Amino acid sequence: TVVRISDDALALACGADAVAEAFAKAGCTVERVSSWGMHWLEPLVEVDGLGFGPATPVDVAAILAGSSAKAIGPIADHPFIARQQRLTFARAGRTRPLSLDDYAATGGWAGLDRARRMPAADVVAEIMGSGLRGRGGAGFPAGIKWRTVAEAPGARKYVVCNADEGDSGTFADRMLMEGDPFALLEGMAICAHAVGASRGYIYVRSEYPHAIAKLNAAIGLAAARLAPFVVEVRVGAGAYVCGEETSLLNSIEGKRGEVRAKPPLPALEGLFGCPTVVNNVLTLAAVPHILHEGGASLYDSLGVARSKGTMPIQIAGNVKRGGLFETAFGITLGELVNDIAGGTASGRPVKAVQVGGPLGAYLHPDQFGLPFDYETYAAADALVGHGGIVVFDDSADMGAMARFAFQFCAAESCGKCTPCRIGAVRGAELIDAIRSGSPRGPDAVERAPQMHNAPKAGRTRAEQLGLLEDLCDTMQSASLCALGGFTPYPVRSALKHWPEDFGDGL
Ligand code: NAI
Ligand code: SF4
Repeated sequence: TVVRISDDALALACGADAVAEAFAKAGCTVERVSSWGMHWLEPLVEVDGLGFGPATPVDVAAILAGSSAKAIGPIADHPFIARQQRLTFARAGRTRPLSLDDYAATGGWAGLDRARRMPAADVVAEIMGSGLRGRGGAGFPAGIKWRTVAEAPGARKYVVCNADEGDSGTFADRMLMEGDPFALLEGMAICAHAVGASRGYIYVRSEYPHAIAKLNAAIGLAAARLAPFVVEVRVGAGAYVCGEETSLLNSIEGKRGEVRAKPPLPALEGLFGCPTVVNNVLTLAAVPHILHEGGASLYDSLGVARSKGTMPIQIAGNVKRGGLFETAFGITLGELVNDIAGGTASGRPVKAVQVGGPLGAYLHPDQFGLPFDYETYAAADALVGHGGIVVFDDSADMGAMARFAFQFCAAESCGKCTPCRIGAVRGAELIDAIRSGSPRGPDAVERAPQMHNAPKAGRTRAEQLGLLEDLCDTMQSASLCALGGFTPYPVRSALKHWPEDFGDGL
């Protein structure tokens, strides 16, 4: 009997190795495959297309006898999978991550082969025509970025993959790198051909050891296919801000991970001063599919308005069914949270959903009708970001979450600009003052008497709130990068929707 079990880090954390060992001991052939992304069912075992999960070694005999209570039926027909439109994650659960045979048998390399038969400018034009936008969070059109690099003067150009996936509740980059590493390498090779680069780097956070190992192995296996393009993995050291593209470039160059002022754009002066494409894992992994015959128009036909194609949405937090849900843009938050995720794991009412990482807004259930697309979210002062959604039940204290946003920003700030470096600290103090009903920030005056904006003795609550607004305005408009610039999103949304969590009298 052939038994398929994922070797994705989440499955491993849930005990997949012990389950695999138990099946091997029972005489089965165990194949380690990528994860389907149904996290609540991991370790998920597949026998002849039928799924069983979450499995433990004790379940082995019953699964093999066909009498297990953990049976979920045919995996591909499970509503969580059947409702998705998987393009980037088309191979998830279906292939062995490091099998070149599996990759080629599922359409692998077809996009690269076709791209290399085309003039570089035509490849850029296809990416442009597909409507693909950067999946790291900002949603900048990938084709325009590639064209900028292709047309920039320079003998050396680079392709850099941003795999410093630091947003809370996100894991799509990790799953892709662990589950389908050749797809990322193929996307990078297509990009290199399109822009005229011969070398690429994948900057991965050190917290992803399994992804790093898979990528290094995949690079070794695919080197001949990728040639003359050469790729290297570079490992970050745990700073959230190194996911910001210029800070990431500094880090690859061996410098301190501090944000660079833009302009110059990395597309013109990036890695080692050369024109550089910096794209997220999901952006690059979408490329092989788009370069397939007819792929660009299919991609463009999915989604809504200017948000084209599919988004691998990552459902996390207090939910019954967390995991990876790839679907065309336009799905509502209500469908995602209530329907697909099944509401909260605690069974209590949903209070808030943070979309787009720690710098994303907290959305109220009143906003569950919002369709998932860049422009609609921007108009609602929210972020699609990297597609992570984290659900909170009614026990969450949103005042504490607003404070956490400032605290996070203070801890992760690179320190280069004042609104972020100092504003984040003042913000946390101010929220403490507002929540405690204290007429001033705790020892703020003593610690920073020179600060014009430091909470002063005798400020009323209304004045403190005015000050908080001022601080948010300043951080939003005057920070050098998104870390300081977006911290006001969670703060303002929490204050707007849950003022009762900020103390009395609001
Ligand atoms: P941005 O809007 O400044 O730039 C977006 C991209 O477009 C950059 O690569 C930039 O160099 C490029 N670009 C802009 N104008 C261009 C032009 N005329 N020609 C060629 N390229 C051009 O946004 P930024 O600061 O790079 O990213 C902010 C986003 O990062 C936020 O939306 C946030 O959601 C996201 N983020 C994602 C995280 C993750 O873990 N994936 C973590 C933290 C933030
Ligand atoms: Fe650095 Fe913060 Fe300024 Fe970004 S906003 S450059 S992280 S100090």
